[in-house]
Amino acid sequence: MGKRILLLGAPGAGKGTQSKRLAETYGVEHVTTGDALRANKDMETEYGTPRSFMEKGELVPDAVVNEIVEAALEDADGYVLDGYPRNLSQAEYLTEITDLDAVVYLNVAESELVERLTGRRVCDDCGTNFHVKFNQPEEEGVCDDCGGELVQRDDDTEETVRERLSVFEENTEPVIEHYRDEGVLVEIDGEQTPDEVFEDIRSVVDDA
Ligand code: AP5
Ligand code: MG
Ligand code: ZN
Repeated sequence: MGKRILLLGAPGAGKGTQSKRLAETYGVEHVTTGDALRANKDMETEYGTPRSFMEKGELVPDAVVNEIVEAALEDADGYVLDGYPRNLSQAEYLTEITDLDAVVYLNVAESELVERLTGRRVCDDCGTNFHVKFNQPEEEGVCDDCGGELVQRDDDTEETVRERLSVFEENTEPVIEHYRDEGVLVEIDGEQTPDEVFEDIRSVVDDA
């Protein structure tokens, strides 16, 4: 059985950056509600489209994301879960559908998060993350991995970033406390370089 890794962190903490590497290193699935929702932004649900929530920085209703995660985990032999759970009700749901081998929290200060998000550029084809300052592509606007075009995410404007951070504080910080209280949370300094952060996560997962 592959490792089952939960990666927690605020918007911009580096979940996507590290998940991609972890999935490759451990040969497990990268399960991410954010990417799944972006790929289905205009899907009609009884609550409206994902886009109508995401562009405001709000959470998409639990029923929609719970179903995405349950379907993805069912098929996976090991996974890195990124972007879920984001509130206590999702955390309860997750407990019912799977066990976890490692729960890792990437801790990054809020001022750093705003700079990371507003400067992020994402490959339109393969989803690789870059940053205008911290992680520049070799050629401006072009993906190093696949040559695709680098674009800014709709929700990476300063105003929406502030809203996402406040939604995180209100809804997701209690989730982090929940895993801390259970004694399973391992906190990692997310302000190190991406390589250093990766090595720290790796030593946690290897011991799990
Ligand atoms: P989602 O896509 O999950 O966004 P997020 O949680 O806001 O997180 P991000 O993807 O913005 O950040 P990240 O931690 O992945 O950072 P990254 O590695 O890119 O969710 C989007 C929306 O979907 C939500 O707002 C909500 O509407 C909806 N949604 C998703 N899941 C949901 C759920 N479960 N329930 C309800 N709604 C849901 O890094 C950021 C930048 O920093 C990059 O430019 C990167 O190059 C740079 N960087 C990374 N690491 C470092 C480092 N160590 N040093 C310097 N720079 C770094
Ligand atoms: Mg992400
Ligand atoms: Zn690419």
